[in-house]
Amino acid sequence: MNARTELPTGTDLLAEIDRLRRERNAVILGHYYQKPEIQDLADFVGDSLDLSRKAAATDADVIAFCGVRFMAETAKILSPDKTVILPDMDAGCSLEDSCPPEQFAAFRAQHPDHIALTYINCSTEVKALSDIIVTSSSAEKILSQLPADQKVIFGPDRNLGGYLMRKTGRDMLLWPGVCIVHEAFSETELLKLKAQHPGAPVAAHPECPAIILDHADYVGSTSGILDYAKAMAGDTLIVATEPHIIHQMEKAVPEKTFIGAPGADGNCNCNICPYMALNTLEKLYVALRDLSPRIEIEEGLRQRAKVSLDRMLAMASGTVGLGDLGPLRAN
Ligand code: 13P
Ligand code: SF4
Repeated sequence: MNARTELPTGTDLLAEIDRLRRERNAVILGHYYQKPEIQDLADFVGDSLDLSRKAAATDADVIAFCGVRFMAETAKILSPDKTVILPDMDAGCSLEDSCPPEQFAAFRAQHPDHIALTYINCSTEVKALSDIIVTSSSAEKILSQLPADQKVIFGPDRNLGGYLMRKTGRDMLLWPGVCIVHEAFSETELLKLKAQHPGAPVAAHPECPAIILDHADYVGSTSGILDYAKAMAGDTLIVATEPHIIHQMEKAVPEKTFIGAPGADGNCNCNICPYMALNTLEKLYVALRDLSPRIEIEEGLRQRAKVSLDRMLAMASGTVGLGDLGPLRAN
């Protein structure tokens, strides 16, 4: 249940959040899809892998997670002794919704010779049913460490899975989930925009369907897209991911122009993630004040989910081989 957000008139939210952050020994983690005012006050802004690493390593007592619920749950799985708060507990994800744990368990049972490589955008229950978690920035590296003959189920994002299959030439069984935000880009409108900005490259997130990725000059995670924006030679970039990341681009390279790729109506507003948008400064203030809404996970479930997340952290860092990580479910 979400905390009440009525505040005394005249509350200086930024000052109050700063005061509470110090009093609580809290770290504020923010995803690139958060509103600019939240990105600007966060102690750390990053992609899903960066944020998982920060959550695992922090010495703060409280993690205020400005992102969506599966991200805050990941922080709690990795740092069970910390208090993890999420400004709005309704901040879910269409990919998580597309993959109910019972259906995923039944799918796994139908394919006992497959391991489950699972995108981090899923519930804690699905993480507990998986062998290895990946993020968009670590998926290819982790996949390359699996034996070539190992059969793999990839879920819940069929677009990221399809992209990995095309990129690596590897076959996988795909769960049919999608991100509603990245599904909303329109190829017709993108081609019109490209015609208006000849020579401007397109950077796209792999959650986009293939019909959009086919027009991309660069495909990568949010932090990958940000790095591309900084390094590219040209002065204009078309950005096919949730448009709040443009805030970081404009801060990093203000002399360049960034244009959000359009949806079917030619208006990129339909690509704002409705779940990420639920978090506000007011709700963050209340969450820090009340230490609620708070993430709680049953301990047995947490430990099962941690196995697949720990494998991700080890394999993404490249310091640990698959053989050192214990038997996978299908072996
Ligand atoms: P990354 O930031 O890891 O690229 O993930 C994007 C996303 O979908 C977050 O929900
Ligand atoms: Fe989920 Fe898509 Fe929103 Fe990311 S952008 S949280 S994948 S709905």
